[in-house]
Amino acid sequence: MTEWVISLGGTKDVQLIIDGKRTDGRTLDELRAIRIEAGVIPEADGSSYIEWGNNKIVCGVYGPRECIPRHGASPYGATLKCRYMMSPFSSLEEHSRSGPSRRSNELSKVIREALENVLLLGKFPNTQIEIYIDVLQADGGTRTASLTAAAVALANAGIPMKDMVAAVAVGKASETLVVDLNKPEDNLGQSDMPIAMSHRDKNLLLVQMDGLLTKEEISRMLDMVEKSCDEIHEVQADALRRIYKTEQKEPFRW
Ligand code: CDP
Repeated sequence: MTEWVISLGGTKDVQLIIDGKRTDGRTLDELRAIRIEAGVIPEADGSSYIEWGNNKIVCGVYGPRECIPRHGASPYGATLKCRYMMSPFSSLEEHSRSGPSRRSNELSKVIREALENVLLLGKFPNTQIEIYIDVLQADGGTRTASLTAAAVALANAGIPMKDMVAAVAVGKASETLVVDLNKPEDNLGQSDMPIAMSHRDKNLLLVQMDGLLTKEEISRMLDMVEKSCDEIHEVQADALRRIYKTEQKEPFRW
């Protein structure tokens, strides 16, 4: 049996890929299993739940509704607010820490900015739209999974969008390009590049990068992202189709 070597002492002796297979048995461009359910919070205007590998995330959307505080309102369109939060029990690292942090502020900001590009906010002046994202279980790639779930929740809330958005992280582990990094690859690999892409126009709405990649590697990774985002889009569309098709809606089961 192959023995995986995971060392927290640095990335030099970490073997994350053996014979073209990753620590969780996936091939290099294989996504983890993704399940999305829409409309999981009856009290919200729109909602979604995503299981992406071992990530479990719930997302609620409220609005357009009155902008509070009022001075934050814009006559040009709705103000988009986004709050990403990891629950204290979502991972061993996060335990005993709850509430906002530099990281949660950053993730809330980048998710909001990505979605602002596709939402037709101009249709709802002087209002606000709120997105609440709660990570129940984290295993690498929560920002991309959250963005993917938030797009479904916004569509479920009926907020007009000019395009759908999906997101995935790509990067380099054991000197090899891989799609959809899990936690060991994210934490111990050489680089990590979360990307969000609009479905029809293929516009890049989020690009972040940790570590180093060559121009040639980035260009290869963008091709991988496009293919993966098309797959993720199918899961998003299916979740939305399911909720509107079912006449007798089955209650959501966790
Ligand atoms: O989740 P994402 O990959 O978008 O963000 P990250 O900052 O690159 O974190 C990678 C992973 O490390 C997260 O998904 C969590 O599993 C873990 N993490 C954690 O458990 N607690 C933190 N405070 C930060 C990260």
